[in-house]
Amino acid sequence: MDNPPTSSAKIVEKATNTSTDKLLFTPGPLTTSATVKQAMLRDLGSRDYEFIGLVKDIRTRLLTIGGVAAPEYEAVIMQGSGTFGIESVISSTVPPDGKLLVIVNGAYGRRIVQMAQVLRIAVHVLETAENQKPALAEIEHALQHDMAITHVVMVHCETTTGIVNPASEVGALARRYGKHYFLDAMSSFGAIPLNLSASHIDYLVSSANKCIEGVPGFSFVLARRTALLATEGYARSLSLDLLAQWKGLEQNGQFRFTPPTHSLLAFQQALMELEEEGGVAGRAARYRRNHQILVAGMRKLGFQEYLAEADQGYIITSFLYPPDERFTFDVFYSRLNARGFAIYPGKVSNANCFRIGHIGHLFEHNMHQLLQVIAEVCQEMAIQA
Ligand SMILES: Cc1ncc(COP(=O)(O)O)c(C=O)c1O
Repeated sequence: MDNPPTSSAKIVEKATNTSTDKLLFTPGPLTTSATVKQAMLRDLGSRDYEFIGLVKDIRTRLLTIGGVAAPEYEAVIMQGSGTFGIESVISSTVPPDGKLLVIVNGAYGRRIVQMAQVLRIAVHVLETAENQKPALAEIEHALQHDMAITHVVMVHCETTTGIVNPASEVGALARRYGKHYFLDAMSSFGAIPLNLSASHIDYLVSSANKCIEGVPGFSFVLARRTALLATEGYARSLSLDLLAQWKGLEQNGQFRFTPPTHSLLAFQQALMELEEEGGVAGRAARYRRNHQILVAGMRKLGFQEYLAEADQGYIITSFLYPPDERFTFDVFYSRLNARGFAIYPGKVSNANCFRIGHIGHLFEHNMHQLLQVIAEVCQEMAIQA
């Protein structure tokens, strides 16, 4: 599905920083280009016509990345991290008698279940092991037998492990059974091609500091307009009310509450850099290459991935701890960190893993640099991976 970058695409590596910041091989916040950071060096009033134009431009560009446009879909920016965007959808688009079918194979799916419980929304949980994709037949079975289900909810790339769930196939099932469909595409949007309309998505959430390569400060929701308009009166929170947020943005282009002006300035620059790279296809090609280099190098050093190759995406990879008692993650992590390379602890519940992200403003040579220092640290620790 991913095409190579078009011939006009320029994969330009920009300086990341003038300082001595570490390279972030994490799920976000990520390493960003110097130009993205520089775009924030301005003070822009939240009611300024220039800011209003900036927000409008961002909203249009986001829809384009999802392969859609207004009025079929609308982009709503929500202050706060990704979790706030998810909670906005869960808390304000489900009717009082609604019921979620939440497909879970990792920590972020479990968080959505927790949200529903806090909000006292009925939930049907379909959980599989963290190294397994959900079975479509089981989803269909749940939709056939639990008539109370109104919404299907799934995480696209479960950043817990890096597994990529079948977004379009689940969308087709939701559509067949007349259910709303909400996809948490936090760590995939902008890097894994997805057409919202073709995948029957009613709501998709992602955030500024993931694959678009902006800085933290807000999340955004891409919503099917007809579904959003039908949610009047469902909100269980004032600040996270998705419909009210959209109405505010539509009425006068302004946010209801203080917007993260600097993050939005950085984000517009990040969106332009995404376009320069050849859009989603161009970014996918770079991340995929980063992933391939990392996995080949780690295998050479004796490390093994947690997921089967067929289930592994090119966003983040979980590696098993080597079966050597001299390996301790804290020492491994601190030694890499001292050399300027930040990796991430594992989040899998049934295996000892650490994670290495290949997203953000990172290029082939950064992956080779990381592999080089991992080899040095393993040698220092006398680890046989
Ligand atoms: C798939 C997914 N969902 C939700 C979140 C939560 O986002 P945040 O930490 O920005 O609140 C993350 C964060 O990495 C994520 O990867």
